[in-house]
Amino acid sequence: MNVAHAEFVVSNTKVDLCPKTNLPEYAFIGRSNVGKSTLINMLCNKKKLAKTSSRPGKTQLINHFLINKKWYLVDLPGYGYARASKTQKKTFQKFIIDYFTKRKELVSAFLLIDLRHNPQPIDMDFLRWLGENFIPFSIVFTKADKINEKDLERKVSDYLLKLKEEWESLPQYFVTSSEKKLGQESILNYIKQTNEDIKNF
Ligand code: GTP
Ligand code: MG
Repeated sequence: MNVAHAEFVVSNTKVDLCPKTNLPEYAFIGRSNVGKSTLINMLCNKKKLAKTSSRPGKTQLINHFLINKKWYLVDLPGYGYARASKTQKKTFQKFIIDYFTKRKELVSAFLLIDLRHNPQPIDMDFLRWLGENFIPFSIVFTKADKINEKDLERKVSDYLLKLKEEWESLPQYFVTSSEKKLGQESILNYIKQTNEDIKNF
């Protein structure tokens, strides 16, 4: 699938104010700085659609991007940003939880993981929470260009092994590099297929 058209629609802190167009949407979540906004730009072939930064804590709102006028990609603030204030952390936590539990248009989440770090409790906790709340998700390993090929394979399989300790079946996963456009086609095809599946359901 090709992204022929991508436009920013609206930013919110409240799920009730998100677009009421009933179109399917896919949300990106994960630790601050893991590469959520950059991945959205990579998928859309646009450098400045979503705002990115080398410093964590850039995305602070729920951002809707309308793709091909048919579905949304949703950029969310990251979690685990150590330097955020307590109030800021609580506010983020509340609207992220609200978004995931209330947003009916959400079809699936992409949980982003930076493989350069060992499995982090905060990601494991969030995955568990998604599972407990029956929110479908897949995993996106980011920044593959920062790891050499040999290590990459080992790190992916180590991560899957870790997940197997808790999960009966493993989620779909993608290995990506926004720098090298790795994973663009497979993520877009997955979204295309999912959109077709829900239409025929
Ligand atoms: P928050 O909005 O703070 O939650 O962060 P985010 O997850 O949206 O991260 P963002 O997309 O802003 O990227 C953070 C930094 O990682 C930026 O400096 C990006 O250029 C860099 N980055 C993201 N993806 C990749 C990648 O695939 N490869 C490399 N080398 N750098 C990347
Ligand atoms: Mg961001």
